Amino acid sequence: MKRFRVLIFGLAFAGAAQAADYKSGEPPAISRDVLAKADYVKGRAAFQARCSACHTVGEGVDLAGPNLHGMFKRQVGTKPEFEFSPTLKGAKFKWTPGRLAAWLADPQNYLPDNNMMIPEPVPEKDRINMISFIMVESGAADWPRPVIANANAATDTSKPYSERYPSFWNHMMYNTVRYAFERPGQSEYVVDVYYNADGTVSSNQKGVDGFWHIKEGGPGPAMFCYALQGFDVEPGVMVECIPIAAMSIPRFNERLWKSKGYKDQVINGGILPGRPNQTQPAEKKAG
Ligand code: HEC
Repeated sequence: MKRFRVLIFGLAFAGAAQAADYKSGEPPAISRDVLAKADYVKGRAAFQARCSACHTVGEGVDLAGPNLHGMFKRQVGTKPEFEFSPTLKGAKFKWTPGRLAAWLADPQNYLPDNNMMIPEPVPEKDRINMISFIMVESGAADWPRPVIANANAATDTSKPYSERYPSFWNHMMYNTVRYAFERPGQSEYVVDVYYNADGTVSSNQKGVDGFWHIKEGGPGPAMFCYALQGFDVEPGVMVECIPIAAMSIPRFNERLWKSKGYKDQVINGGILPGRPNQTQPAEKKAG
């Protein structure tokens, strides 16, 4: 898998560099009582917003990052079936809450040259709550999971999409979707589109726009549905629904899925990291 290295830590987070390399000593321990009394709901929200795009924590699958279930029982970088960086494979210690805090405060300083690229360190106010949540869900807590009404935030329809589907949201609202229409005997027609938070769609191609919405509440999984128009290929429109879950994993590749368009036309869909700052705003539509 291709990994994108974002070298931001040297610039923006030089101030956070007091977080030490693990070799330079043991980070402060966090007491069991502090963890047991932490706010599980806040920890869960922080995990969903910052980690769930790449990690499951209950018994589950590896995404871009390894499944974290049982992580406190194993040595760093030893989760079977996951391809870790040489750094994590070579770090010979077991995770503790204190070490996890040091890692989340500044992953690139704590274990230099690792493959985990997060846009910003976990803020101090979220760290204990998040670690407590991870301990409960990964099977490391010796205290019970708190009983919470409405345990599944995703079904709370009073919340905005950004909170109910944070991984989907972060992936689709900040990156570029590229469609390549195959044209027999000709080069592909390639167009980049940007799904916007207000439900509109803009593009790098003049005249291409559209809208999107989330379809949920039916018997099937929640779907991300969109309609696009203005393409320079017949018939110039495209309507498609894809499960939210499939759009929540941050995978970057020009060819992630294939769609069948008009008259068996093949359209390759893919996602590229980021988007230009200045996109051509879609025309405002009435209503
Ligand atoms: C963009 C994807 C991504 C995000 C977001 C992310 N991680 Fe990771 N994480 C990874 C990758 C990739 C690795 C493996 C790193 C390596 O091998 O160098 C990893 C490794 C880890 C490990 C080490 C696991 C082990 O078995 O040793 C822990 C713990 C971890 N991540 C926790 C977190 C937490 C908590 C968050 C949320 C703040 C988070 N990660 C956010 C991709 C991510």
